[in-house]
Amino acid sequence: MFLSLPSSSSSFLLFTCLFLLSIFTQPALSSAQLLPNSSTSGHTRRRLLLHRQLSVDYYSKSCPDVERLVGAVTSQQFKLTPVSAPATINLFFHDCFVEGCDASILVASKGGGKAEREAEQNRELREEGFEIVRKAKKLVESKCPGVVSCADILAIAARDFVHLEGGPYYQVKKGRWDGKISMASRVGNNLPHANSTVDQLIKLFASKGLTLEDMVALSGAHTIGFAHCNHFVARLYKPDPNMDPKLKHALRTYCPSYGGSDVAVPFDATTPFLFDNAYYGNLQKKMGLLASDQALYSDPRTKPVVEAMAKNKQKFFQAFASAMERMSLVGVKRGKNHGEKRRDCSIHGSL
Ligand code: HEM
Repeated sequence: MFLSLPSSSSSFLLFTCLFLLSIFTQPALSSAQLLPNSSTSGHTRRRLLLHRQLSVDYYSKSCPDVERLVGAVTSQQFKLTPVSAPATINLFFHDCFVEGCDASILVASKGGGKAEREAEQNRELREEGFEIVRKAKKLVESKCPGVVSCADILAIAARDFVHLEGGPYYQVKKGRWDGKISMASRVGNNLPHANSTVDQLIKLFASKGLTLEDMVALSGAHTIGFAHCNHFVARLYKPDPNMDPKLKHALRTYCPSYGGSDVAVPFDATTPFLFDNAYYGNLQKKMGLLASDQALYSDPRTKPVVEAMAKNKQKFFQAFASAMERMSLVGVKRGKNHGEKRRDCSIHGSL
């Protein structure tokens, strides 16, 4: 029953409830101890320039209803398959960090060449995210053919899902073009790993023009969604002073020592269906799922930011919304020389 992540609403709920029950019916912890507790000028210039070129009302004449059309799809799919929300937010992150927010992640492999989505780091991206963009694009194309980029649709859909899950609403600037390049070999070290150190994370995010605060705020997306056992199983079968023993015990039930790569468990064991700031409170209780999550509370540079977000949900919402806006400008393409508009998001030059 638990060998694959269910996506229908009822089995999804059942799975998560059982998981939560298994944590909270463990014997109480014996006074769990808490651990004692930049962006480059080039990036900034480019971002300021993009801020001027992209705009919230970019399609006001050519496709004035674009947000409503995408919204019709996201809200309907959210009811049918709630996992579409984390799937799409994660998809957007994986798109932006490789070649920029240009929908290169949506391109399907053709001939011998492997597209970005075939890279090892992208194998676990759930189909629901791709499906959302496909459906939204189809609807948008039926009203305004050849106008709206796949990259803008993905950015709008990710924002919609943050809001539908109870998170902040923010305006999405539009005017991105789709990328002409999508290669698995270009993924490389552009995506973080579950055991990345805080140093590595800070460097990676800085290389995209994002600050340490942005990085901690964006990690708050792990307040929803799931992770497969292989990303954290190493923490379960060795002493790990940074993991709550109750959580460890519950996770062992689902994740055998050899990995259990088909099983996925919720990131946030307290409010898995809500986009709130519980992720940070969990880190304070040693209930972070990935080593990279928990490390944010051990490192003196990131710990104060975690504490501030845990204390104040509004502060987290503000920081998350502005970090998402900044992330959505990473490596944006403009114009025919640098980009394309695709009718089918999975095929280059499909206009
Ligand atoms: C800071 C470094 C980050 C690391 C090391 C990391 C790592 C991971 C890993 C290992 C998973 C589980 C994948 C799976 O098993 O299917 C995951 C899922 C997820 N990540 Fe991250 N991530 C990071 C940052 C982000 C950011 C910046 C966002 C978005 C703003 C994000 C959003 C998500 C979401 C929503 C999921 C759940 C996906 C689902 O349930 O389908 N992550 N992440």
